[in-house]
Amino acid sequence: MRRITSDSKEARTIVVTGGADGIGRAVVLLCAARGDQIAVLDKNAEAAKTTADEAVKRGAKSALGLVCDVGFEEQVEKAFEIIWNKLGAPYGLFTSAAIDLGGLIHELPAATWHQVLDTNLNGTFLACKHAIRRMRQADVPGSIVCASSPTGFVALAAGGTGAYSATKGGISSLVRCMAIDYAPYGIRVNAVVPGATETRLMWSNVPAEDIPRMRRVLSKEIPLGRLAQPEEPAQAVAWLLSEESSYVTGSHLICDGGILAKASIST
Ligand SMILES: NC(=O)c1ccc[n+]([C@@H]2O[C@H](COP(=O)([O-])OP(=O)(O)OC[C@H]3O[C@@H](n4cnc5c(N)ncnc54)[C@H](O)[C@@H]3O)[C@@H](O)[C@H]2O)c1
Repeated sequence: MRRITSDSKEARTIVVTGGADGIGRAVVLLCAARGDQIAVLDKNAEAAKTTADEAVKRGAKSALGLVCDVGFEEQVEKAFEIIWNKLGAPYGLFTSAAIDLGGLIHELPAATWHQVLDTNLNGTFLACKHAIRRMRQADVPGSIVCASSPTGFVALAAGGTGAYSATKGGISSLVRCMAIDYAPYGIRVNAVVPGATETRLMWSNVPAEDIPRMRRVLSKEIPLGRLAQPEEPAQAVAWLLSEESSYVTGSHLICDGGILAKASIST
């Protein structure tokens, strides 16, 4: 098996879905500063290209910004073909692309349920599938990190997150299964569990005028007393993508300011 490590002269190729914004973008820029080659996959074509350009400015050996809706297999397969031809086999994959469309289950249109599953769960499956195919084709090891969430483990008190939470629980299960299946090939698979992080997705279901009040309420409830900046979970992802985590697979790295450690009953 050919070894590509952080110490290798050969630059690692890191693919990030949803890499044009939020935590994915922060991972792109961190890996860029480490001299990796980067592929930014995002449904937002312009933002993917802008982020790829920024990655080169931050030190990436090279960077591709590719338009790709992760819910469509032909688009994901095509993106990995371009990456293979231009940057070689992927060493790392971070699946960040996700949407959060809320609503109580008895009111949720089936179309919305499918939309959330298509992006979050199917998108994760498709990106992992085509990344692993290319890693196996090149006979190289690799590191895959999938974005889970506290909602994959517990229900949020605010409610109405059934579809999103179901996808995150599914992603966590998928991570454990893939970790076992691909360990013999040196392909590690882990999840990151970001807590409330200051991104577009975090506030996507909150009216703009409510954001400051909600930020104050959340900050009181989070043990560390504040929301995360995207660079904070990104550091956890960068570690899982690096050789420093060489014996870690099938695990969840919780980066949530203490949310999951805290029971809601206080007396
Ligand atoms: N922000 C949080 O508080 C938080 C908490 C827990 C987990 N997470 C998870 O972290 C990951 C990143 O979230 P974020 O907050 O950075 O989100 P974000 O909204 O800031 O960024 C998501 C990116 O994904 C892209 N995207 C959305 N649908 C896509 C599709 N179908 N195909 C390709 N790209 C698509 C968007 O264009 C955007 O660039 C998500 O998986 C999310 O569930 C976030």
